[in-house]
Amino acid sequence: MGVDLRVAMRNFATGVCVMSTKVDGPDGPEHDAVTVNSLTSLSLDPPLVSVCLRQDSVFLADLLVSGSWALSILDIGASDVARAFATGRDNRRAALATVSAVPGEHTGALVLDGPGWLECGLRQVVEVGDHTLLIGDVLATGSQDRRPPLVFLHGEYHAVGAGGANRHDREVRTR
Ligand SMILES: Cc1cc2nc3c(=O)[nH]c(=O)nc-3n(C[C@H](O)[C@H](O)[C@H](O)COP(=O)(O)O)c2cc1C
Repeated sequence: MGVDLRVAMRNFATGVCVMSTKVDGPDGPEHDAVTVNSLTSLSLDPPLVSVCLRQDSVFLADLLVSGSWALSILDIGASDVARAFATGRDNRRAALATVSAVPGEHTGALVLDGPGWLECGLRQVVEVGDHTLLIGDVLATGSQDRRPPLVFLHGEYHAVGAGGANRHDREVRTR
């Protein structure tokens, strides 16, 4: 038996977030955002989270400049949003212009309307394998009781309801 991490981890259900950051460009603030499901709550006191990004990610390059980011947890209606922010930067910037989002008070990174959000400041960067692990201090959080969160399992988006996890959308590849 060999190792196929991607196949094994397809069985691990996660939420889905849009991770955003803002850098100061020559013509003013430049925003970018990507879909992530590698968010982990690391510590409650102090409040810390981690996210893993591919080492060659252009979004990661911006984040290492800004030193801060926001994470918006997506709701069940946002599978199109998840798909849009898993594409190239030009598409993502176009998508940012159409979503409902406001700059976070602590970071200026865009916070999307959804069941929960975090603003984070970079504490530690760990290069591990083909990814970079970012550990962040949680600077602010918010949540609202509204539509249930989007769930990612078996390479597909799902709704979690009283009847259990129901397939919600077509198969997608993460990274
Ligand atoms: C559900 C889902 C979860 C994802 N999670 C991650 C993640 O945790 N880390 C990551 O690097 N990419 C993740 N991706 C892929 C990125 O969203 C995608 O590669 C994005 O285009 C990266 O942009 P960049 O390489 O232009 O910076 C995920 C994609 C999907 C659809």
